[in-house]
Amino acid sequence: MKVFVTGTIPQPGLSLLHEKGIEVLEWKEKRELTNDELVECSKSCDALLSVGPNKIDKQFLQTCSHLKVIALHSVGYNKVAVEVATELGIPISNTPEVLSDATADIAFLLMLAASRQAFYAHKQILAGKWGFFEATADLGLELKGCTLGIFGLGNIGLEMARRCAGAYQMKVIYHNRGHNKIAESELNAQRVSFNDLLTQSDIISVHANLSEETKGTFNLAAFSKMKPQSIFVNVARGAIHHEADLLTALQKKMIWGAGLDVTDPEPMRPDNPLLSLPTVAILPHIGSATVKARNAMSVIAAQNIIAGLNGERLPQIINSEVYDK
Ligand code: DGY
Repeated sequence: MKVFVTGTIPQPGLSLLHEKGIEVLEWKEKRELTNDELVECSKSCDALLSVGPNKIDKQFLQTCSHLKVIALHSVGYNKVAVEVATELGIPISNTPEVLSDATADIAFLLMLAASRQAFYAHKQILAGKWGFFEATADLGLELKGCTLGIFGLGNIGLEMARRCAGAYQMKVIYHNRGHNKIAESELNAQRVSFNDLLTQSDIISVHANLSEETKGTFNLAAFSKMKPQSIFVNVARGAIHHEADLLTALQKKMIWGAGLDVTDPEPMRPDNPLLSLPTVAILPHIGSATVKARNAMSVIAAQNIIAGLNGERLPQIINSEVYDK
């Protein structure tokens, strides 16, 4: 049995595959592989372990319908045509929960960095612009007692809410299709309409999946309803906000600042005007990048590959309907 691993993964996951006698074909080049390369390498394998933003679309799945399992090394699965995989009988897995703390830490870091213009201030030092003391310069916002609005309150959103409630006694509101009972009982979080989320939040933190429904949700109309002193944070997927509208909202001071770990497209170009705004903090999609989270992600992905190759039900399945067929 052979698995194609589309990038370097941490040793714990790799060792697990080797221990089970699974042959591993690893993509070692320091660049994203093309769609053709993805097909070519997958053709010679029985399973795919996908690391990074590979497009697992209808065409790929139809060409590689022989795959016994596809394990994603991520929680997000917006690049996968899940319904097609289900029709073709291919089980797909992801890696939820183990990256929630790491990703919530990045949301918290970005919120704080934007509120105090921290990334901009750091750049000023590098540019030799740390000048004389001015009592009215570099003023930021304080976060204690603010209202946090979570868009998409799942595992990661809950961890962000816990951090904000614990550190700053924030009131938590959220917008979801259903109720999050844990957040409601533990943090007294209140489920609100999208309009109320926009108008009542001092910080909006995005943790939703990217789908046709959520794509472009944060556009100029949405930003225009937010408080002028509010901060927009997105650690989910860049396409959930409309980037040109976010820039306009910041330039016109409809909102105070933004913290982004995700952009659209990725990578963001270094001359993107958002990067030079004082109240904006941007990171290169490193939400899950801790040793602990990535090791755990690699193990979950490997466990799913092993189960799939043995013809067993995947321990972490996205498209469980595949077993109803
Ligand atoms: C995920 O797992 O989906 C995160 O965005 C990290 O890539």
